[in-house]
Amino acid sequence: MKRVPKIITALPGPQASRLIKLDGTYVSPSYTRGYPLVAERGSGAWVEDVDGNSFLDFTSGIAVCSTGHCHPEVVQAIQTQAEKLLHMSGTDFYYTSQIELAEKLALLAPGNDGKRVYFGNSGAEAVEAALKLARWYTKRELNIAFFGAFHGRTMGALSLTASKTIQKKHYNPLVPGITHIPYAYCYRCPYNLRYPACDLACVKWFEDTLFRTTIPPEEVAAIFVEPIQGEGGYIVPPPEFHRELSETARKYGILYVADEVQSGMGRTGKMFAMEHFGVVPDMMTLAKGIASGMPLGALVAKSDIMEWEAGSHASTFGGNPVSCQAAMKTIALLEQGLVQNAAAQGAHLLDGLKKLQEEWECMGDVRGKGLMVAVELVEDRETKEPARDWRNEIITAAFNKGLLLLGCGENSIRFCPALIVDSHEIDTCLSIFSDSLKEVVEKG
Ligand SMILES: Cc1ncc(COP(=O)(O)O)c(C=O)c1O
Repeated sequence: MKRVPKIITALPGPQASRLIKLDGTYVSPSYTRGYPLVAERGSGAWVEDVDGNSFLDFTSGIAVCSTGHCHPEVVQAIQTQAEKLLHMSGTDFYYTSQIELAEKLALLAPGNDGKRVYFGNSGAEAVEAALKLARWYTKRELNIAFFGAFHGRTMGALSLTASKTIQKKHYNPLVPGITHIPYAYCYRCPYNLRYPACDLACVKWFEDTLFRTTIPPEEVAAIFVEPIQGEGGYIVPPPEFHRELSETARKYGILYVADEVQSGMGRTGKMFAMEHFGVVPDMMTLAKGIASGMPLGALVAKSDIMEWEAGSHASTFGGNPVSCQAAMKTIALLEQGLVQNAAAQGAHLLDGLKKLQEEWECMGDVRGKGLMVAVELVEDRETKEPARDWRNEIITAAFNKGLLLLGCGENSIRFCPALIVDSHEIDTCLSIFSDSLKEVVEKG
């Protein structure tokens, strides 16, 4: 029989309530929990909480569990490696799994140039490494990133992030020399233009304005860009955006750094989201879905860029053998059909949401690629007034009905299930989402 969500207690249930209280005493209050899920176990696209409630997970642990929760082949790879070698430190020693994963990623990355790989433990560490390598290689001090971008929370990565002020409050001064500019957010064009009549003014603006008035391009090390903006709202730029912008960058010797931490590893229906745009970046950061939940970050750079000398950057735990084996198995599963499944099921999800959009005025925009899909909620289609409260209430209503969702941007809901998701699970999600929308919006 096909699995459906099963809620058997009031939420949170008694065990969850006890643990949340304990968390309130001992765990850092800086985390942002939207609803009281206390996870106990996971399998495929499903999560069970500590009280035995069963949820359909359309968050996959913030786009991390790419092969689903506890994929048996990934678990087996982890167990096998754990019995052999838990740690040795790639900083000072060699070991097979790190070398073989580097080779695999180098060959997978877009473009024909040779690549080399640096390993860390997270997305922020991969971005931090990219920021350092960009300076090291170009000997330039300035960088460009985008409003709405999320690149992580360590000081360097945070300096590139421009997603929410709270993430930066009280942490200044940050890394100097970073300029943020508007992303190609066509639903709310920062220049009040319309695609394609705009003629990509957001790219032309670099040479017409930015490089003429504010930033000498020959002092810019890199442009850091998410192929599809993630935390900012799952914003898909126009097809020519990356090509034109990367050509502008190349003209001035500026490196084009694609942050694929969220969009990479098959999520968008291609192994890397930049492939949708036909652009070969100079560097690419990876994490999240790379190892199905084991901590791992990677910076993949063209070999002639990653030339830094021994001692210039490293990490004790980065590229841990267990994480590397989890990544090797994850990539094998992605190549054996999960990337294709992400494309097919993503199209099914997008189609279902677009049909719902015909019924619901508040679904202002439905967008995405593969299983990186979002709905932007508005109070009115004409004014596009963001429906922030509805967004949060819909996510809570869905949770109470057994569907796990996450927000992104100010007023969007993201759908980023595991890449093993099937049509029944997509239909179940659409049905609960529709019921939740109805419950919240009809209440007013
Ligand atoms: C595009 C992007 N870059 C970097 C990061 C930071 O990754 P981490 O939280 O693993 O440090 C994230 C996390 O959401 C992300 O979405």
